[in-house]
Amino acid sequence: MAEFEPIIVAFACHYCAYTAADMAGTQRLTYPANVKIVKVPCTGKVDTLHLMRALQKGADGVLVAGCIKGDCHFKNGNLRAEKRVGYVKKLLDSIGVGGDRAHMVFMTAGQGKKFAEEAALFTEKIRQLGPNPIKAGAKKAA
Ligand code: FES
Repeated sequence: MAEFEPIIVAFACHYCAYTAADMAGTQRLTYPANVKIVKVPCTGKVDTLHLMRALQKGADGVLVAGCIKGDCHFKNGNLRAEKRVGYVKKLLDSIGVGGDRAHMVFMTAGQGKKFAEEAALFTEKIRQLGPNPIKAGAKKAA
């Protein structure tokens, strides 16, 4: 049987994580192709609904990657995002899906290596968790 290949949706801030992901590519650092990046102007624009919808529509895990604390270009968007990710984690735990399917990381635009490492770590964590049971088309447990 083929190994489970998770789908990860990463919401990446234009000013830091998206640039870091780009830098990772420029530096020829590899990270799993499982990670599909959605560029956002600031992680403060990522709503709880976006994360839940991504999981419902097929993601096995959602990653939010924002600027270092104190460095958000919109003052505290990353802190708002951190709270929302925390809320989503609790929500996922409460419905038995597992809060570990949502994760937030902070980085600078120059941290391409960190982006690649975080993407690989999160992908592996989700691989261990297995397929997301609430995604569209997921088979129900017998
Ligand atoms: Fe990057 Fe707000 S501008 S997280």
